[in-house]
Amino acid sequence: MDRVTIKQISNAFIPAREIDDSEKFAGRSSYIQNAFFALNSKGNNIAIVGARGIGKSSLSRQIINLSQGDNSLLEKLEIFYDDSLDYLSLYIACGNKVKTIDDLLIRLLTRRDCLLEWVYDIPAAKKELDKLSGGFDVKVLKAGAEHSGELTNESVIKTHEVDVIFENIIKQLNDIEIAKDGILIVIDEFDQIENPEGFAKLLKSLATNSPSVKFCVVGVAQDLQNLLKEHGSTDRLFADSVINLPSMSDIELDEIISNAEGSIKKFITFDEGARKKMIELANGHPYLIHLIGKQALKTAYLNNIQKIDHDYIESTLKEIAEKETDPVLEGRFKKAVASSYQREAVLRAMAQSVKSDGEVWTTDAYKIALDYGIENASQYVGHLVTDEYGAELIKLRERYYRFKDSLFQTYIKARPWMTSDK
Ligand SMILES: Nc1ncnc2c1ncn2[C@@H]1O[C@H](COP(=O)(O)OP(=O)(O)OP(=O)(O)O)[C@@H](O)[C@H]1O
Ligand SMILES: [Mg+2]
Repeated sequence: MDRVTIKQISNAFIPAREIDDSEKFAGRSSYIQNAFFALNSKGNNIAIVGARGIGKSSLSRQIINLSQGDNSLLEKLEIFYDDSLDYLSLYIACGNKVKTIDDLLIRLLTRRDCLLEWVYDIPAAKKELDKLSGGFDVKVLKAGAEHSGELTNESVIKTHEVDVIFENIIKQLNDIEIAKDGILIVIDEFDQIENPEGFAKLLKSLATNSPSVKFCVVGVAQDLQNLLKEHGSTDRLFADSVINLPSMSDIELDEIISNAEGSIKKFITFDEGARKKMIELANGHPYLIHLIGKQALKTAYLNNIQKIDHDYIESTLKEIAEKETDPVLEGRFKKAVASSYQREAVLRAMAQSVKSDGEVWTTDAYKIALDYGIENASQYVGHLVTDEYGAELIKLRERYYRFKDSLFQTYIKARPWMTSDK
């Protein structure tokens, strides 16, 4: 058998990164097909909404690849195509600094990996961009901004409206036909924008004035209206291109494991029991397959184990908790439990009682809590909705709750007990 490299072992699963490479992108065939049609249709934008860690960013990366004429994923999925696309495609993740649409537009205009590079080649666009800095060369502004971290809205002398400047520049890029199919702007983590007011209006205006610019907005939300925080009608702007990304099926999750094995030439494999266990634990979240898979492969490699089984996955879960492999999820867990056996028991009882619609009925959960010896469970549920314990639970109505996010709920179920081995 071929020896594999540490690099291959370390990158077989990538919990910390979205999937760029079409080879490693599992499942999602109908969504790719849908997105490819959307990229081919004039005038409509695309949205990807869904739960945390479900694979939204990865899908958006694949959409960028398709938009730039890379059809390898279509080949792999045997999806028919008759042309290669040619977009100028930009990707931006909002993070926590983008608070308004103006912040977003300024970043799009002034970041080198976004529009800045292109604007410099077009004198009229460059002139327009200089308005942002009140006539100063925007390069100076950019250099200064890089020095002090990111460019903020306040640092811009606002003699002109940012959205007008943005629209003008897009129109200029549009007019010179910068790419055959237009410009694709992927805005990831759109849900982080505190106040997205004005976005729908901007889309409407661009649809009229620069029809070849297309947005793909991506974020944690139940639906488009929630993502855009917009209550007016936005349907027409997105036609039928809203992708509501569901959990992954067992077959799709299994494919992630097979792809990882393939990338290390099956030097280490996961047996049936291990795969079943991982898929059950992941509960539709590809992230957890990557998190568990990566840790299991690493220790197996170091201990010269070539077959990973059910028990090995169990012990991997302990390591993930002890080593805080995911410090964010583990931190949230510790905050919610805060060293109390009772609170951990109630948290687990609630996580185990989630119904298929995501709701928890306390009558179900309190029965399980009673099995753990907790008689006053409602008191601990009372804690778990407060900020002090992370507000992981949300009260819907009398006796009904839901978890703030299903990834955390899944983590609770997968994680071994902290305060007791019960
Ligand atoms: N189709 C896929 N095939 C294989 N792995 C995937 C796929 N989609 C997502 N993943 C993996 O699952 C994890 C989460 O994916 P991603 O970051 O795309 O999700 P997300 O929905 O954008 O998450 P977040 O809500 O945190 O932004 C990553 O490790 C990614 O590599
Ligand atoms: Mg993401």
